[in-house]
Amino acid sequence: MLEIKNLCVSYGSVRALDEVNLRMAAGGLLHGIIGPNGAGKSTLMDAITGCARPTRGTVRMNGVDLTRRPVAWRRRHGMSRSFQRTSIFPGLTVREQLELVASQLGERDLRGIVLALDLGAVYERQADSIAYGDQRRVDIALALIGHPQLILLDEPAAGLSTAETVSLFDHLSTLTAQRGVSAIVVEHDVDAVFRFCAQITALDLGRVLVTGTPAEVRADARVIAAYLGSAA
Ligand SMILES: Nc1ncnc2c1ncn2[C@@H]1O[C@H](COP(=O)(O)OP(=O)(O)OP(=O)(O)O)[C@@H](O)[C@H]1O
Ligand SMILES: [Mg+2]
Repeated sequence: MLEIKNLCVSYGSVRALDEVNLRMAAGGLLHGIIGPNGAGKSTLMDAITGCARPTRGTVRMNGVDLTRRPVAWRRRHGMSRSFQRTSIFPGLTVREQLELVASQLGERDLRGIVLALDLGAVYERQADSIAYGDQRRVDIALALIGHPQLILLDEPAAGLSTAETVSLFDHLSTLTAQRGVSAIVVEHDVDAVFRFCAQITALDLGRVLVTGTPAEVRADARVIAAYLGSAA
């Protein structure tokens, strides 16, 4: 479904992405992206979603070249990413906020998303007044609206406790399987990544060290040296 070829992004003299190749099949899989700080994980998410301009390479989804398409075009054609902040419309309730986006994108199963993400209890609350962990699930709900084929989440569990992180990934893997939407997730909690992701790509210095199953990536000498260290 997603095919990335020779993708490069530079910021001045910094090569944030250096000839990245990645393939991902359709059908409700979780694909984790790991790597040390500055490895290029966020830049990869930005380049896939159209928020960063590649200097070279292509991003294709279902055979269609998206490399130069604007963010909004990708959103309408099945690719979405989580919002950095929940309260994009300050003063709205969770329901009002989700319904607004749902009406724009023709979502007919908002209730299914809300139930699957356990957002019923906060549905009528102001989005900016709910607990941080609930806000992270609202972010995911927003990304799921409109039946995307692929969602990209950059550190969706940042700031959550270990238990909250496991719960978030639990929700995510159930939802992606149920709705047939695949997800690319950047995450520093390697236990969660190894437990929930079917495929993992490890990045370092803008390059792919390896893409493989959790067992393959965990055992990879380059990944251990660059990132996992003794934690593996
Ligand atoms: N807007 C920018 N301007 C200049 N350099 C940038 C910019 N964004 C990222 N970089 C640089 O590109 C490289 C990759 O950064 P990126 O944010 O993609 O890493 P990351 O893997 O997401 O790191 P982290 O784990 O800290 O989030 C780093 O060297 C970073 O300093
Ligand atoms: Mg980052």
